[in-house]
Amino acid sequence: MTFLKNDQSEEVLEDLYGEKDYYWYLRSQEFCETFLKPMADIINEIGGSVLDVGCGEGQLSQFIDVPYCGIDASPTAIDKARQTYHDRNASFGVFRLENFIEEWKGSLYIDDFQTVVFGGIMEVLVAPEERVRLARSYMDRFDSEYLIIYDLKRLDEAPFKSNFQLIQRISATVNLEGIPKVKRSRKILVFKR
Ligand SMILES: C[S@@+](CC[C@H](N)C(=O)[O-])C[C@H]1O[C@@H](n2cnc3c(N)ncnc32)[C@H](O)[C@@H]1O
Repeated sequence: MTFLKNDQSEEVLEDLYGEKDYYWYLRSQEFCETFLKPMADIINEIGGSVLDVGCGEGQLSQFIDVPYCGIDASPTAIDKARQTYHDRNASFGVFRLENFIEEWKGSLYIDDFQTVVFGGIMEVLVAPEERVRLARSYMDRFDSEYLIIYDLKRLDEAPFKSNFQLIQRISATVNLEGIPKVKRSRKILVFKR
Protein backbone atom coordinates (compact mmCIF):
# COMPACT_ATOMS: atom_id res chain seq x y z
CA MET A 1 0.00 0.00 0.00
CA THR A 2 1.40 3.42 -0.85
CA PHE A 3 0.52 6.95 0.14
CA LEU A 4 2.17 8.43 -2.91
CA LYS A 5 0.74 10.00 -6.04
CA ASN A 6 4.26 10.79 -7.26
CA ASP A 7 6.50 7.81 -6.72
CA GLN A 8 9.98 9.15 -7.56
CA SER A 9 12.51 6.38 -8.18
CA GLU A 10 16.09 6.56 -6.92
CA GLU A 11 17.18 7.41 -10.50
CA VAL A 12 14.75 10.33 -10.70
CA LEU A 13 15.93 11.63 -7.34
CA GLU A 14 19.60 11.25 -8.29
CA ASP A 15 18.88 13.26 -11.41
CA LEU A 16 17.22 16.01 -9.35
CA TYR A 17 20.04 16.14 -6.81
CA GLY A 18 22.84 15.61 -9.34
CA GLU A 19 23.96 18.06 -11.98
CA LYS A 20 20.48 19.52 -12.30
CA ASP A 21 20.59 20.72 -8.68
CA TYR A 22 16.82 21.13 -8.97
CA TYR A 23 16.37 22.15 -5.34
CA TRP A 24 19.11 24.84 -5.28
CA TYR A 25 16.61 27.41 -3.99
CA LEU A 26 16.07 25.47 -0.75
CA ARG A 27 19.62 26.49 0.25
CA SER A 28 18.99 30.18 -0.48
CA GLN A 29 19.20 32.72 2.30
CA GLU A 30 15.64 33.85 1.46
CA PHE A 31 14.19 30.38 2.03
CA CYS A 32 16.23 29.72 5.13
CA GLU A 33 15.38 33.02 6.78
CA THR A 34 11.76 33.26 5.69
CA PHE A 35 10.60 29.69 6.27
CA LEU A 36 13.13 27.49 8.04
CA LYS A 37 14.20 29.80 10.86
CA PRO A 38 10.61 30.59 12.00
CA MET A 39 9.69 26.90 11.76
CA ALA A 40 12.78 25.93 13.78
CA ASP A 41 11.91 28.53 16.43
CA ILE A 42 8.54 26.82 16.88
CA ILE A 43 10.13 23.35 17.06
CA ASN A 44 12.71 24.53 19.60
CA GLU A 45 9.96 26.13 21.68
CA ILE A 46 7.94 22.91 21.66
CA GLY A 47 11.01 21.01 22.87
CA GLY A 48 11.54 17.25 22.61
CA SER A 49 12.93 15.67 19.47
CA VAL A 50 11.93 16.20 15.86
CA LEU A 51 11.65 13.99 12.80
CA ASP A 52 12.00 15.78 9.44
CA VAL A 53 10.39 13.59 6.75
CA GLY A 54 11.84 14.22 3.28
CA CYS A 55 14.51 16.49 4.75
CA GLY A 56 16.43 16.90 1.48
CA GLU A 57 19.87 18.32 2.25
CA GLY A 58 18.87 18.89 5.87
CA GLN A 59 18.75 22.70 5.84
CA LEU A 60 16.19 22.84 8.64
CA SER A 61 18.63 21.16 11.04
CA GLN A 62 20.98 24.16 11.07
CA PHE A 63 18.45 26.12 13.19
CA ILE A 64 17.33 23.28 15.45
CA ASP A 65 18.48 23.04 19.08
CA VAL A 66 16.59 19.86 20.02
CA PRO A 67 17.56 16.32 18.93
CA TYR A 68 16.88 16.11 15.20
CA CYS A 69 16.53 13.20 12.77
CA GLY A 70 16.13 13.79 9.02
CA ILE A 71 15.21 11.14 6.46
CA ASP A 72 15.10 11.31 2.69
CA ALA A 73 14.99 8.84 -0.20
CA SER A 74 17.92 10.50 -1.97
CA PRO A 75 21.35 9.16 -0.91
CA THR A 76 22.98 12.21 -2.52
CA ALA A 77 20.86 14.62 -0.47
CA ILE A 78 21.61 12.69 2.72
CA ASP A 79 25.35 12.64 1.95
CA LYS A 80 25.28 16.41 1.55
CA ALA A 81 23.29 16.80 4.77
CA ARG A 82 25.81 14.69 6.69
CA GLN A 83 28.76 16.61 5.27
CA THR A 84 27.22 20.02 5.89
CA TYR A 85 25.63 19.54 9.30
CA HIS A 86 27.89 16.93 10.91
CA ASP A 87 28.62 19.19 13.86
CA ARG A 88 24.94 19.54 14.78
CA ASN A 89 22.84 17.50 17.17
CA ALA A 90 21.45 15.78 14.09
CA SER A 91 21.30 12.37 12.46
CA PHE A 92 20.31 11.61 8.88
CA GLY A 93 19.18 8.44 7.15
CA VAL A 94 18.28 7.23 3.67
CA PHE A 95 14.70 5.96 3.88
CA ARG A 96 11.60 6.16 1.73
CA LEU A 97 8.79 7.79 3.65
CA GLU A 98 6.30 5.07 2.70
CA ASN A 99 8.57 2.38 4.27
CA PHE A 100 10.15 4.26 7.14
CA ILE A 101 7.76 3.16 9.88
CA GLU A 102 8.42 -0.51 9.13
CA GLU A 103 12.16 -0.02 8.67
CA TRP A 104 12.93 2.26 11.63
CA LYS A 105 14.60 0.40 14.41
CA GLY A 106 15.32 3.43 16.57
CA SER A 107 18.66 5.08 17.00
CA LEU A 108 21.05 5.30 19.88
CA TYR A 109 19.63 8.51 21.19
CA ILE A 110 16.13 8.93 19.71
CA ASP A 111 13.17 6.63 19.57
CA ASP A 112 10.01 8.72 19.79
CA PHE A 113 9.60 12.17 18.24
CA GLN A 114 7.63 14.95 19.91
CA THR A 115 7.22 16.70 16.54
CA VAL A 116 6.98 15.32 13.00
CA VAL A 117 7.62 17.70 10.09
CA PHE A 118 6.50 17.12 6.51
CA GLY A 119 8.22 19.84 4.47
CA GLY A 120 7.49 20.09 0.75
CA ILE A 121 6.03 16.59 0.75
CA MET A 122 2.25 16.59 0.98
CA GLU A 123 1.18 18.69 -2.02
CA VAL A 124 3.56 17.29 -4.61
CA LEU A 125 4.12 13.70 -3.51
CA VAL A 126 1.18 12.45 -1.46
CA ALA A 127 -2.30 11.58 -2.76
CA PRO A 128 -4.84 14.05 -1.27
CA GLU A 129 -6.99 11.31 0.29
CA GLU A 130 -3.91 9.78 1.98
CA ARG A 131 -2.40 12.89 3.60
CA VAL A 132 -4.09 12.70 6.99
CA ARG A 133 -3.57 8.93 7.17
CA LEU A 134 0.13 9.37 6.44
CA ALA A 135 0.53 12.08 9.08
CA ARG A 136 -1.42 10.08 11.63
CA SER A 137 0.55 6.90 11.02
CA TYR A 138 3.77 8.75 11.84
CA MET A 139 2.30 10.47 14.89
CA ASP A 140 0.95 7.18 16.23
CA ARG A 141 4.16 5.26 15.63
CA PHE A 142 6.42 7.89 17.15
CA ASP A 143 4.06 9.04 19.88
CA SER A 144 4.17 12.60 18.52
CA GLU A 145 2.13 15.44 20.01
CA TYR A 146 2.83 17.92 17.21
CA LEU A 147 2.62 17.85 13.44
CA ILE A 148 4.11 20.54 11.23
CA ILE A 149 3.12 20.81 7.60
CA TYR A 150 5.34 23.17 5.61
CA ASP A 151 4.17 23.35 2.03
CA LEU A 152 3.05 25.37 -0.97
CA LYS A 153 0.36 27.93 -0.26
CA ARG A 154 -2.09 26.05 -2.48
CA LEU A 155 -2.07 22.92 -0.26
CA ASP A 156 -5.62 22.15 0.93
CA GLU A 157 -5.47 22.56 4.72
CA ALA A 158 -9.08 21.54 5.38
CA PRO A 159 -8.48 17.79 5.95
CA PHE A 160 -5.70 18.52 8.46
CA LYS A 161 -7.83 21.12 10.25
CA SER A 162 -10.69 18.70 10.69
CA ASN A 163 -8.42 16.01 12.12
CA PHE A 164 -5.92 17.96 14.22
CA GLN A 165 -5.99 21.15 16.26
CA LEU A 166 -4.38 24.04 14.38
CA ILE A 167 -2.33 26.04 16.90
CA GLN A 168 -0.21 28.25 14.66
CA ARG A 169 -0.14 29.31 11.03
CA ILE A 170 2.50 31.31 9.20
CA SER A 171 2.33 32.20 5.53
CA ALA A 172 4.97 34.12 3.65
CA THR A 173 6.32 34.82 0.18
CA VAL A 174 9.92 35.13 -0.97
CA ASN A 175 11.02 37.34 -3.85
CA LEU A 176 13.46 34.85 -5.26
CA GLU A 177 14.27 35.03 -8.97
CA GLY A 178 14.61 31.87 -11.03
CA ILE A 179 11.83 29.75 -9.52
CA PRO A 180 8.17 29.61 -10.59
CA LYS A 181 5.81 31.91 -8.73
CA VAL A 182 3.88 29.00 -7.22
CA LYS A 183 6.99 27.91 -5.30
CA ARG A 184 7.54 31.31 -3.69
CA SER A 185 4.46 31.37 -1.45
CA ARG A 186 4.43 28.85 1.35
CA LYS A 187 2.79 28.18 4.65
CA ILE A 188 3.73 26.56 7.91
CA LEU A 189 0.88 24.87 9.76
CA VAL A 190 1.45 23.72 13.32
CA PHE A 191 -1.01 21.15 14.65
CA LYS A 192 -1.48 19.49 17.98
CA ARG A 193 -2.93 16.00 18.18
C1 LIG B 1 10.55 19.62 -2.25
S1 LIG B 1 11.83 18.65 -1.49
C2 LIG B 1 11.58 19.17 0.21
C3 LIG B 1 12.86 19.32 0.98
C4 LIG B 1 12.69 19.89 2.39
N1 LIG B 1 11.86 19.04 3.23
C5 LIG B 1 12.06 21.27 2.35
O1 LIG B 1 10.91 21.41 2.73
O2 LIG B 1 12.73 22.20 1.95
C6 LIG B 1 11.11 17.03 -1.52
C7 LIG B 1 12.04 15.95 -0.95
O3 LIG B 1 11.36 14.71 -0.89
C8 LIG B 1 12.28 13.67 -1.18
N2 LIG B 1 11.50 12.48 -1.59
C9 LIG B 1 10.85 12.24 -2.74
N3 LIG B 1 10.21 11.06 -2.68
C10 LIG B 1 10.46 10.55 -1.44
C11 LIG B 1 10.07 9.35 -0.76
N4 LIG B 1 9.29 8.46 -1.34
N5 LIG B 1 10.50 9.16 0.51
C12 LIG B 1 11.30 10.08 1.11
N6 LIG B 1 11.70 11.21 0.53
C13 LIG B 1 11.29 11.46 -0.74
C14 LIG B 1 13.16 14.26 -2.27
O4 LIG B 1 14.41 13.60 -2.35
C15 LIG B 1 13.28 15.72 -1.77
O5 LIG B 1 14.41 15.87 -0.96
